[in-house]
Amino acid sequence: MTSPIEYARANAERFRQDLHALLRIPSVSATPELAGEVRRAGQWLVDEMTRIGFPSVELVETAGHPIVYGEWLTAGADAPTILLYGHYDVQPADRVKDNWDSEPFEPIEKDGKIIARGSTDDKGPVVAHLKAIESIIQTTGALPVNLKVIFEGEEEVSSLHLGAFVSANLDRLKADACLISDTSIYAPDIPSIVYSLRGLVYMELHVQGPKDDLHSGVYGGTVHNPAQALAEIITQLHNPDGSVAVSGFYDEVQPLSDEERAALAKVPWRKADWAMGTGLELPWGEAQYSLRERVGARPTLEINGMASGFYGEGAKTVLPAKAMAKISCRLVADQDPRRIYERVRDFVASITPATVKSEVRLLHTGDAALVDRHSQPVQAAVQAYKAGWGGAEPVFVREGGSIPIVANFQRDLGIPVVLMGFGLDTDGAHGPNEHFHVERYHKGIETIIHFYSAYADLFAAGR
Ligand code: BES
Ligand code: MN
Ligand code: MN
Repeated sequence: MTSPIEYARANAERFRQDLHALLRIPSVSATPELAGEVRRAGQWLVDEMTRIGFPSVELVETAGHPIVYGEWLTAGADAPTILLYGHYDVQPADRVKDNWDSEPFEPIEKDGKIIARGSTDDKGPVVAHLKAIESIIQTTGALPVNLKVIFEGEEEVSSLHLGAFVSANLDRLKADACLISDTSIYAPDIPSIVYSLRGLVYMELHVQGPKDDLHSGVYGGTVHNPAQALAEIITQLHNPDGSVAVSGFYDEVQPLSDEERAALAKVPWRKADWAMGTGLELPWGEAQYSLRERVGARPTLEINGMASGFYGEGAKTVLPAKAMAKISCRLVADQDPRRIYERVRDFVASITPATVKSEVRLLHTGDAALVDRHSQPVQAAVQAYKAGWGGAEPVFVREGGSIPIVANFQRDLGIPVVLMGFGLDTDGAHGPNEHFHVERYHKGIETIIHFYSAYADLFAAGR
């Protein structure tokens, strides 16, 4: 009899072709015109799960993009139930504007990489899960765990409707653990379990000057230019030492313990990796914290974009009427995104010159999450990585990115979460030439296969 691992290896080529099929669907959740494509990607997953044998799977409608929900609950009452979560929506991608070397939605394989938008975030890991499940079913005929599966189509737009689905289905979603593959590993040969994700609050800062655009010769020198006023406001949002100047910004931030700092120092962000990921030589930020601590345990405020006046070709002597900046804060555990929004709003109001008007609008929020490093499913993930990664011991890291629904799962369902990812920080998620290494796709599939049996065994032993 073949084992699940042998089956996965024998079917490796087809497993990649199937991933390519999903990558060809431009399921960009942020682009209203592509809503039909997001739905098509969701339906692709429903069809694939049906083909694998899921006894129940459906496309659940929301006020936004649909949720894929499936159940496979045949392992019996003594086996654990896992809630598997992933997302099938992707970030926008434009070959020309964003400087891709190939079409973002025409996957190619080159130098051992699958190159396409969504390959590492998060379609590659999502399909890896389905392939692991297929491999187990095809060879053993049964899953060692009960499965509830949520694949959402709105993660990249802050999980707008999933929170309501979770709170409306508490009984139905009851599980012993939540498994998510949507984070990075530390290095190709060092897998990692993520135990902290940052939260997010996304805002727009609007500055209004004169009622209309003006002739800069007629009025220049008498009117406070809103683009300049915006710049003046923005420069006051940080202190010279790189910290955020907004009053009360750090009030709820928990300091790192000496023990945790020592543990984090063992998994530093290697300067060379940081330089490779950014193309820069010199880091910036709060000097008293290491690079890893800055993204993992410190909140930030970023300017995501600015717009004002004339930026076409040639010259236009205009004095613009308004200016705008997109601003977001990454938050750490215990910082309430709404409260941070209010503090930014009030601080901006307090530093806005009397010569212009400003307004800070809230776009969306997501909570930060801290994960228990000692839970039983996390122990199973340690074992699974070791088995799937040639004996490598996984390290525990804090990540700077956000997966807003994690906090909902913890709070509403009260279950431990495992963040067991397979991609690398340098895979180009959200950027051009996003890729997922073929090797990590297949190692991911095998690691997931090991996870299910390791968790089923630990769960049985603990009863
Ligand atoms: N997979 C990422 C989250 C992530 C990135 C975790 C890096 C760990 C390391 C996810 O798809 C993502 O991009 N989330 C958004 C959430 C936002 C739109 C609310 C993010 O972090 O910007
Ligand atoms: Mn993701
Ligand atoms: Mn993402």
